[in-house]
Amino acid sequence: MTFTADRLLLFGATGDLAQRMLLPSLCALHDDKLIAPELRIIGTARSDYDDDSYRAFARAALEKHLPDFRKPAIDSFLPRLTYQSLDANEADHFKDLSDEIGTIEKGLAIFLSTAPSLFEPTIAGLTHAGLTGSMVRIGLEKPLGDSLASSREINDAVSAAFPEERIFRIDHYLGKETVQNLLALRFANILFEPLWNAAHIDHVQITIAETVGLESRVSYYDGAGALRDMVQNHMLQLLALVAMEPPSNFDATAIRDEKVKVLRALRPVAPNESVTGQYRKGAIEGQPVPGYDDELGKDSDTETFVALKAHVDNWRWQGVPFYLRTGKRLPERKTEIVVNFRCIPHSIFASRGAKAQPNALVIGIQPEENVQLQLMAKVPGLDREGIRLRAVPLNITMPDAFAGPTKRIAYERLLLDLIEGDQTLFVRRDEVEAQWTWIDEVRSTWAEHGHTPKAYSAGNWGPSAAIALAERDGVTWHE
Ligand code: BG6
Repeated sequence: MTFTADRLLLFGATGDLAQRMLLPSLCALHDDKLIAPELRIIGTARSDYDDDSYRAFARAALEKHLPDFRKPAIDSFLPRLTYQSLDANEADHFKDLSDEIGTIEKGLAIFLSTAPSLFEPTIAGLTHAGLTGSMVRIGLEKPLGDSLASSREINDAVSAAFPEERIFRIDHYLGKETVQNLLALRFANILFEPLWNAAHIDHVQITIAETVGLESRVSYYDGAGALRDMVQNHMLQLLALVAMEPPSNFDATAIRDEKVKVLRALRPVAPNESVTGQYRKGAIEGQPVPGYDDELGKDSDTETFVALKAHVDNWRWQGVPFYLRTGKRLPERKTEIVVNFRCIPHSIFASRGAKAQPNALVIGIQPEENVQLQLMAKVPGLDREGIRLRAVPLNITMPDAFAGPTKRIAYERLLLDLIEGDQTLFVRRDEVEAQWTWIDEVRSTWAEHGHTPKAYSAGNWGPSAAIALAERDGVTWHE
């Protein structure tokens, strides 16, 4: 049943995500009048705040994280917030929470951003307090488990209380504008689709590079590592959007049906098709930074970098490798997808000494949102010493092409979709399970072959073995 919620309940309301993303996103939606005036936001966490002190806490977070042009909206936004402290292991606390929420006239949207160990007690508490009825939907923030088995356990617990159409699993990459633009690029243009297959594409590269290190998430990250923190979710979603068949329309079922087919077609990664790394001390943008072990305060075998060669075993993608890499403390923050086309079958310019390079489509997701098509062009001149060809970019910079619309953070869209009940940009259970199935296989291959992360200095593009992984196939990572 579709409903627009008039209550939003935030679990983890004092956490890092709430401060950096959720409260600023909600304030932006409020500022743009995209949420109804009657929407009340109830924050909950263990900390002992009352409404006033929580509003002061929220104000500090908003002052810190909102862009200046949004700050005038803070005063009118704060009265929407109330707070109820809660220990998820105390069933009775959920009764108090239910009293705080009061009568739900239109619907309740719950956003769960808590430690994984609190998922199950929270669901039990919500059930106990009668907060799972047909007018309630739930959004779940990662990590949703650390393996197929544990993610099933969480999914089973959530499914016992909510049907799938009221479960919204968040992958914030799907809320990013350029990620959605990938669908427009592929399916709103006639140009690419005829070439979007093994006959014309040589390989695809997907990079999510970060300059940050461990930040404050020591215990979570060390237990997860780059494979489970980034590849299992964000990178596989990007891969699925690049590789999926055209859905019949833009709705949640059609799109998710196509993505899951890709995820299920992923071939297990061979032992020599992955490389892991861990950063040592080095420099980022000229500033010295410590190594992972130093930040962590102990030795660890957790990978902070991973590069993989993936294969989608279906008709369209047979023989087209997808090279994936992600890591912390790399030289720049960059998320991009590079679709490398095959060479032309015959070069008429060879007889004049010129070489044509293959075309490439570079989709920049962050920090720049742009789409660049690398085309071959003749270098101007009279060509007395032969023709010269050079790759030149056909460049669309999104902020220039669409000057005007405000740049939004991914959570603005996702929170609005959660409040309004649109599941298109949320991950369905079968997708998550297909993702974990593949990731578990990678991890068991590592376990079997005694994989230890190779050292790389902070500020480098991972260990040299990652470069070799691509170079072995005559491929150079796009930089
Ligand atoms: C999160 C990971 O899901 O995504 C973090 O847990 C990572 O480790 C973050 O830093 C990256 O998100 P973004 O939007 O900054 O690319």
